[in-house]
Amino acid sequence: DWTTTNVVDEQVELIRQQVGDKQVLCALSGGVDSAVAAALVHKAIGDQLTCVYVDHGLQRSGESEQIEKDFVAATGIRLEVVDAEDQFLSALAGVTDPEQKRKIVGREFIRTFEATARKVDAERHIEFLVQGTLYPDVVESGGGAGAANIKSHHNVGGLPDDLQFSLIEPLRTLFKDEVRELGLAVGLPETMVYRHPFPGPGLSIRIIGEVTKERLDILRAADLIARTELTAAGLDRDIWQFPVVLLADVHSVGVQGDGRTYGHPVVLRPVTSEDAMTADWARLPYDVLERISTRITNEVDEINRVTVDITSKPPGTIEWE
Ligand code: XMP
Repeated sequence: DWTTTNVVDEQVELIRQQVGDKQVLCALSGGVDSAVAAALVHKAIGDQLTCVYVDHGLQRSGESEQIEKDFVAATGIRLEVVDAEDQFLSALAGVTDPEQKRKIVGREFIRTFEATARKVDAERHIEFLVQGTLYPDVVESGGGAGAANIKSHHNVGGLPDDLQFSLIEPLRTLFKDEVRELGLAVGLPETMVYRHPFPGPGLSIRIIGEVTKERLDILRAADLIARTELTAAGLDRDIWQFPVVLLADVHSVGVQGDGRTYGHPVVLRPVTSEDAMTADWARLPYDVLERISTRITNEVDEINRVTVDITSKPPGTIEWE
């Protein structure tokens, strides 16, 4: 019978048996799944776990701090932070094609993670890699629920042959809502446990046009306002995701005070969904939309127009790229 305490105890015991006195590595993405998986493994084997966080500079405001400070404070995990912002931004310079952006971010992530994994491996000889695979992912790839918690020397998305670890997947029998309960049970902050899904390529695919540091900062400022007001209105859990998209190559004429402005529009894209396969545009209350619009145009100089996307999926996707 399913209780979080049972699942935690069971997993902790299983992980201890599997790992023995070996060393384990885990990449944190900032998302719920990797955070809960890491926290569980840490509860089981403590200091035998090393976590890696690649800071690619494409996160939203406060997200890196949440991992580097709040997550570490809540768990006591040993964390290697890799500051790779310059590397990712140079690789993305001049690129506007969405699929190119995805490829570049994926490739740079693997490169960076590989280099860090090599370094940690040289220090403490790593045997295992933790992944936050959930039950729906297992079913999708034909694995089945009975499959063991551990897979041997599985090729992990592009790591070279001499860096193949056995996989530990402590969440592979669980659904998302169960993972969230587990996260709370192992002491993770609610802000982390109830975080909306966020794409791997980060804000790079929410800037329509070339990705630059300046544009990222503009988008981060607008996005933070939108998220803050959504939370203040108590609506986080009614919404699946709330992308804010910067139309960086579009200029919009506006007027502020005595002056004419020539800034950029942002698009608010709040959606409801069950699984991201289909989605509906969220009917946010007008007063919430108004606060977001007023604050963004007052507080973010480069933005002079706020629009709301009222397209369902299909035909529109959730993200704009
Ligand atoms: P779309 O835009 O296709 O998004 O409706 C469906 C879900 O997938 C997320 N998404 C991504 N996640 N890498 C990811 O890890 C990606 O390249 C990517 N593109 C979209 C999106 O945020 C939504 O949850």
